[in-house]
Amino acid sequence: MSTGIPLNENIYWTGVNDRQTGLFEELWPIPNGISYNSFLILDDKVALIDAVKDISLDRYLEKIRGLLAGRRTIDYLIIDHIEPDHSGAVKILREIFPGMQIVGNKKTMDLLAAFHDIRDNLLTVSDGDTLDLGRCRLQFHITPMVHWPETMMTFEERHQVLFSGDVFGGFTALDDGIFDDEITDLGPYEDEMLRYFTNVIGKYSVMVQKALAKIAGLDIRMLAATHGLIWRNRSRHAIDLYDRWSRYEAVDGVVIVYASMYGSTEKMMEAVARSLESEKAGALRVHNLARVHASYILADIWRYRGVVLGSPTYNTGLFPLMDHLTRLLENKMLRDRVAGIFGSCGWSGGAIKELGDFVKRMKWELVAPLVEVKGSPGAEDLKHCALLGANMVKRLRTGKPWGVNTGGLP
Ligand SMILES: Cc1cc2nc3c(=O)[nH]c(=O)nc-3n(C[C@H](O)[C@H](O)[C@H](O)COP(=O)(O)O)c2cc1C
Ligand SMILES: [Fe+2]
Ligand SMILES: [Fe+2]
Repeated sequence: MSTGIPLNENIYWTGVNDRQTGLFEELWPIPNGISYNSFLILDDKVALIDAVKDISLDRYLEKIRGLLAGRRTIDYLIIDHIEPDHSGAVKILREIFPGMQIVGNKKTMDLLAAFHDIRDNLLTVSDGDTLDLGRCRLQFHITPMVHWPETMMTFEERHQVLFSGDVFGGFTALDDGIFDDEITDLGPYEDEMLRYFTNVIGKYSVMVQKALAKIAGLDIRMLAATHGLIWRNRSRHAIDLYDRWSRYEAVDGVVIVYASMYGSTEKMMEAVARSLESEKAGALRVHNLARVHASYILADIWRYRGVVLGSPTYNTGLFPLMDHLTRLLENKMLRDRVAGIFGSCGWSGGAIKELGDFVKRMKWELVAPLVEVKGSPGAEDLKHCALLGANMVKRLRTGKPWGVNTGGLP
């Protein structure tokens, strides 16, 4: 019988891997799956920290039952976050362990009633409250709106484990290891962590900063989020990553995102890209909106300081996929980027005006020239595209505004 994986002599990972779901939240591709992390603490009292989505429940319950060994029951279920990817198993857990008390804050209880019609056997905690399990003791830290109103974190004092809810989480199922120090190359995992952050949590960056300030005084040895790796060796590194991302800190480099129906905007993109490369812009990523899911594009725009958007005019406005991406970025409220814009039109134009308005609403810096070409770009048009690339590099290199919001050629 499977009994989960020990973090220490009291705490066990009893989570499950989801390799069936194609799109997390029916939005974000998860080709490498995702884990729903749940932890069982065996002490004088038994506490389960967070549950899982209502998938693979047989495996989930097998792990829990294996640890309880037919002799014990669950006394408490602590809910740090009630989104159904962590609370889907709550009803079945209550049926199997009828004495189990559900622990959460006031907002957790409101949502528990709304989502699961559960209203009894509850223990409501406030910020700073503690719960003794015997040798282990839990502290509750309310960290609202990362990314739901009820989100909180639970700190286990004896082993100094912070159960942080979705914060510090990442996509990908836990295949070869569940701890950071079991993974030889963390690079690909950190990419998936950034994608999870930007897709799911990033809009609430200000609240992430507040949560980080709140846990700053805790002496954390292990960081156990509800998704992804458990950080037992480099928990400080995971905190640094989330700190940098939620401060909108970017690394040197430029992302070009474009769409093109018949190749005109694509020609412009190539001129901008060549110029960025020859001027040594640093890392350059080029994404065709029609080929690459916005999930990945969002992560790259969050990673790099420069972003260049190219769109043909479509029915007087933006190409629909670019319209979608700009709405997504606006919703995520990403700040502090330097932008360039270009595109081809047939008669009225419209895409460049909409892109310009978007950049203004985002409060990003706009680098000149804004290049709008009628039909296929000629030699002069391509020179303007190259100038856009060169100006972007100058702006990124000097750190000073360059041709910002001037429109047209400088
Ligand atoms: C469905 C459709 C709608 C379009 N609507 C407009 C429009 O409202 N105004 C305009 O100036 N051009 C419009 N165009 C023309 C395109 O903007 C023009 O063909 C442009 O060169 C396309 O760039 P691309 O080759 O990069 O796709 C439209 C084209 C298509 C196919
Ligand atoms: Fe969540
Ligand atoms: Fe989650």
